[in-house]
Amino acid sequence: MIRLFVMVLAAWAAGFYGLCASSDSLPVFTRAPYLQFSTTNSIYVVWRNEGPIKPVVKFGKSLNRLPGEVSQISDSTGTGIVVRASLGTNSETIPSKWRSLRTEENLKLRKLHSAPVGTFQYEARLVGLETDTKYYYAVYDGKKRLTPADESYSFTTMPPVGTRRPIRFWSLGDGGTGRREQAEVFEAMLDVTKREKRPLDLWLHLGDMAYGTGRDTEFQARFFESYDLALRSSVCWPTMGNHEGFTSKGNQGQGIGPYYDAYVVPRYAEAGGLASGTEAYYSFNYANIHFICLDSHDQERKPDKAMAKWLKADLEKAKADWQVAFFHHPPYTKGSHDSDKEKDMAEMRQFLMPIIESGGVDLVLAGHSHIYERSMLIDGVYGATNMVAENNVLDDGDGDPDGDGPYRKSAGIHPHEGTVAIVAGNAGAAMSRKGTVSIMKRTLTEYGSVIIDVDGDTMTGRMINRTGKVRDLFSMVKRGKVDPVRLALPWQPEEYKKTTNEVKSADYLVQTAMPVDYKVVIPKNAEWQYLAGEDPKTMDWTRRDFDASDWKRGKAGFGFGDEPFQTELTKIRGKASSIYLRREFTVEQVDKITELGLVVNYSDGFIAYINGREVARKGIGRSSGRNVQKIVPREEAGAAYIALKDLHKSLKDGVNVFTIEAHAARESLDLFVNPFLILED
Ligand SMILES: [Fe+2]
Repeated sequence: MIRLFVMVLAAWAAGFYGLCASSDSLPVFTRAPYLQFSTTNSIYVVWRNEGPIKPVVKFGKSLNRLPGEVSQISDSTGTGIVVRASLGTNSETIPSKWRSLRTEENLKLRKLHSAPVGTFQYEARLVGLETDTKYYYAVYDGKKRLTPADESYSFTTMPPVGTRRPIRFWSLGDGGTGRREQAEVFEAMLDVTKREKRPLDLWLHLGDMAYGTGRDTEFQARFFESYDLALRSSVCWPTMGNHEGFTSKGNQGQGIGPYYDAYVVPRYAEAGGLASGTEAYYSFNYANIHFICLDSHDQERKPDKAMAKWLKADLEKAKADWQVAFFHHPPYTKGSHDSDKEKDMAEMRQFLMPIIESGGVDLVLAGHSHIYERSMLIDGVYGATNMVAENNVLDDGDGDPDGDGPYRKSAGIHPHEGTVAIVAGNAGAAMSRKGTVSIMKRTLTEYGSVIIDVDGDTMTGRMINRTGKVRDLFSMVKRGKVDPVRLALPWQPEEYKKTTNEVKSADYLVQTAMPVDYKVVIPKNAEWQYLAGEDPKTMDWTRRDFDASDWKRGKAGFGFGDEPFQTELTKIRGKASSIYLRREFTVEQVDKITELGLVVNYSDGFIAYINGREVARKGIGRSSGRNVQKIVPREEAGAAYIALKDLHKSLKDGVNVFTIEAHAARESLDLFVNPFLILED
């Protein structure tokens, strides 16, 4: 899908910087310029056009004078501009306007694996820059300027390694939904930087940046267009999430797929650290901070495998005041994921955390679990199936200078003096919580992101929620010599209890905001077959081959109570009230469907099935049909959106049947159900 840069400006940037965007004065980028992979004397400016241009990047120290220029085309990653192109394949139908581009010369260009045919990606490396210096830049097509003369098209090269001065980085995970919450979290962070007049030096994305499957169009809409303003003025250093993993693979050398197409990261220690030889994991130095990115998604995590060996060697070499490791799958969480129950997270804890803590890492950042969880100062929590606080906490205070005081560590790098572990998978995807991690000081099911400030020997982290409030603050001071003491009985967070209107069997439900783009599978107010006032004898009614010819037909919604319904039912005095609905629907190319969602207004509870398999349940504790138990009166009003589970296990190409049973609690005065079904592909 081709998106115009003008649309981006209209939707986003104009709001922030008051840019005046008129459609004839602005060019067409299919991916607006963004910064990548900076060092003390170089940086990448990357962008995409539909069709080739004559790429030029000009740069200079004042907005109105850009004497520097890169225009030479390079076919390696050295200097100049690397051009990558999507020119289709022989077997593919290529739009006629791009057929002529399949010249021998163009076909030699590096391939853009996943972009629409006709896309050209330019990766311009600006070299020979002064250290710790602010530059402005502009992208040209030959002599024609494509970016406006706006201050936001600027960057600052890295300070010399070891520099001690305030450094600010932003960290966020699981944001790429395209939903309102993502935009609010971003705006809240921007507001803080504006109010404090302290912009970002860099940012770390903790993965799941392009839901549902990390496709190129999802990257464009849910990452590049969503964070455009930050992307053009600061470098985003990424780590791959499982959602990107549906379409990208982190091979040795250069990975493939939209994730690896989008990012340029150091493979050969160009920005310090130790060469990994792969874009999947890497390290770099920024001033007095050493950053390490691991790929927790598709690299082997065992200690004798390449990534763990590289990590160990990298940490042995590192000399920075601060060491920060980031990756997608958190070692400690009970948010939307449970790190005691899922192998990828348990392995990060069991195999990688011992190396990370032996190497003296101060801060571990992860996403994946849609929650904010921040640990005390911990060391040694490596259990394969459990997370134990006793004797593994070095400071059980809150780390707040105005509270229990900052966490203290010795100056320099020392093994096992304590780590703060943060799960920040709260930047846009719907929150949920499964339980309590005993080493966590703060657990918040609130949308937000983390701003971290490092100033010499002090690091301060703040979780900023989507309304701009600071919801957690901790700081760490590395000064003098500190002898760590292991607390036999550290403070423990209160055991999490689900609120009373949640029933335990609803655990597997993911209740989220609706996708932005969707197709309707069963429309609103569709006609359904229904059975009311009696219960089916067996579960056969949920299956496709069930004969429902003697059921009634009516339009949704169905019910009785305060409001009128399209199909009115009658309450039978003294009897539990239930209704059963059936409707067939057809889908093609099931493997391309990323989400099948039910939009339903209901009271009090329901169970939904596809082809006889249960795919959603709300407000009903146990069993089904006439045996339902523990129906909990629904408290919230209006329709809910529920992404149906196990979709690829239940859905078939061709005709399927969706069935739903709704039940009223015994004391209820109303019963209703008004469903429709959508899909996202
Ligand atoms: Fe994830």
